[in-house]
Amino acid sequence: MDKYARMQRDLMLMEQNGKVSVPEPASAIVPDEKARLTFAVWGDPQIAYWSAFRSARFLAACRDLANCASPLDALILAGDITETGDASEYRMTAQILNDVCPNAFRHFLCVSGNHDVRLRNYRKQLSVFNDFIRSVPGGIPAGETRHCHGVQIKGYRFLLMGSDRATFEGAYISAKQLDWLDEQLTLCDGKPAFVVNHQTLHDINGLPQTWLGKGKWRGSVGWESDKLRAVLEKHCNVIFITGHLHYGVSAFTYEDHGAFKALSVPTVGVVNHGEETTDTQGYVLSVYDDHILARARIFGEGRYLDADRPNAEIVIPIE
Ligand SMILES: [Fe+2]
Repeated sequence: MDKYARMQRDLMLMEQNGKVSVPEPASAIVPDEKARLTFAVWGDPQIAYWSAFRSARFLAACRDLANCASPLDALILAGDITETGDASEYRMTAQILNDVCPNAFRHFLCVSGNHDVRLRNYRKQLSVFNDFIRSVPGGIPAGETRHCHGVQIKGYRFLLMGSDRATFEGAYISAKQLDWLDEQLTLCDGKPAFVVNHQTLHDINGLPQTWLGKGKWRGSVGWESDKLRAVLEKHCNVIFITGHLHYGVSAFTYEDHGAFKALSVPTVGVVNHGEETTDTQGYVLSVYDDHILARARIFGEGRYLDADRPNAEIVIPIE
């Protein structure tokens, strides 16, 4: 039996044993008609050929999307779609999305994480990654030579970053990519722009504590962190969305740094650290003319996080 067949069998066994939750349609996401744009963001599905638990969490979260009252403008995965970058893991991810919630979102955007690119030939893995994105309806792949690319949805720019080489834990953000980001943000001319990268910056979103306190630079982009920050700080209304930390919604999740706002999204597929350890956490963002509302949601349980929890509801000002 190959890896993919084993993954299917193991998930089916989880389902038969009642270990995959089924969110109630009654508490589904209802996109606000007054919002210009509504989308969901998940960090780190990290689907692994050896873990049916991750597939089960992802499946439960997808069921919540399937219940949506109307399609979201986008589903965004903020990196580490898979654990090892194996084709079987991407196939499983796509199969769940396509079987469970094929009509839940109009666009499917992904950035790669360190687990997607590590220990692999960069070009070949980029091709595998793009094939995966293409296999999901609404998927918008990157180009043939690098992960970073821009997508326009309803007049809003999404700038999807990605390491320019196969790094193990951080990311290598080349000068070329930094120049590209700067140019793209200049074109936005102050209109809200969503920059999605797998790793956050050095020393923000609770680092190093949110990486369980190990290592000065660990958990962040790495050596190019300050250069990336300098680009973000040149502009305004930049929403910088990241994953990687596997840290539940907390006081560290959102930070307003003036020019850019840093939103660190928990993992949807793996166990979250911190005070809020519930599985399948993520965010639903509704964009209005003068603000963005980001609501933390426990997708696998079909409910928003209690509003009294830190950063359960974030109002991001648009200046
Ligand atoms: Fe990661």
